[in-house]
Amino acid sequence: MSRADAASLPPPSRIARLPPALAALLAHLPGLLIAALLLAGAPALPPLVLALLVGVIAAGLAVYWRLPPWWRAINLAFVPLLWLGLAADLDPRWYLAGFALLALTSLGAVRTRVPLYLSSARAAEELARRLPANGHLLDLGCGLGGPLARVARLRPDARLEGVEAAPLNWLFARLRLLGRAEVRLGSLWNTDLSRCDLLYAYLSPAPMARLWEKARAEMKPGSLFVSNSFTVPGVSFDEVVELDDLSGARLFIRRMG
Ligand SMILES: C[S@@+](CC[C@H](N)C(=O)[O-])C[C@H]1O[C@@H](n2cnc3c(N)ncnc32)[C@H](O)[C@@H]1O
Repeated sequence: MSRADAASLPPPSRIARLPPALAALLAHLPGLLIAALLLAGAPALPPLVLALLVGVIAAGLAVYWRLPPWWRAINLAFVPLLWLGLAADLDPRWYLAGFALLALTSLGAVRTRVPLYLSSARAAEELARRLPANGHLLDLGCGLGGPLARVARLRPDARLEGVEAAPLNWLFARLRLLGRAEVRLGSLWNTDLSRCDLLYAYLSPAPMARLWEKARAEMKPGSLFVSNSFTVPGVSFDEVVELDDLSGARLFIRRMG
C-alpha cells in the first residue's frame, strides 16, 4: 500500500478511541438487553443460543465501530465461552491457574495498556526482508521472542535485541534466544534507540504518540520505524503492508529522515 493509500485509511470511530475494556463492554450491552428480554418472554430458550446471540451482536458492533480486528473474535467468543465455562463446572483451581498465568504475562498491561499478543510469522519475514546487511533489529516489547527467533533463522547476519517488561515473557524469550539475541528485562522507555537500523513495535494505540516522539529524537536517519497494527496520530507512513494473516494485521513503515 502506498503513502496515499495509508492516508486514506478510515479514522478510528469514537467508540474505538475509548479504553478497549469500555468499548468491549458497550458492544455487549445491546445483546445482553435483547437476551434478557427474550429470556423473559420465552424462558425455555437454551442459554447457549442466547450466549451465541450476545456474541454475534457484540462482534457485529465491533465491526460497525471499526474496533481492531481481534475484538471481533473476542466479542464473538467471550459470552459463549463464559457460559460454557460455568456450565462445565470446572475445578476453581483452573481459574486460579489461568489468572496466575495471565498476571505473570500481562499484569503490567493494566499500567502500560499493552497486553501480550504475538506477531505472525509473516510479520517477522517482512522484518527480515527489510533489515539491511548486518543490520541491528530492536523489538520493543519483545514478548515471547517470536519475531526475533524467526529473524535469527532467516538472517544469520543480523544483530538482534529485545526489551520486555513482563518477567515471565522476558525469561521465556531470553532462554529461547540464548546466544542469538540480547534480551533485556526492562522498559522500552529506558531503551536507547540510536543504534538500531530497524525498530519493531507491536504494542497498542496507547503509547504510539509518545513512542513516535522518542523515535524521532533518537533514531538515526535512514533507519526504519515499523509498527504492527497501530499507527501514530497525525503521522503518514511510507508503506503499509497487509500481512494477509489470520489477524488481518498491517505493518506501518516509515523511514526516519
Ligand atoms: C503485543 S506484545 C508483542 C510481543 C512481540 N513483540 C511479538 O510481536 O510477538 C507487546 C509486549 O510488549 C510488552 N510491553 C508493554 N509495555 C512495555 C514497556 N513499557 N516496556 C517493555 N515491554 C513492554 C508486553 O509485556 C508484551 O509482551
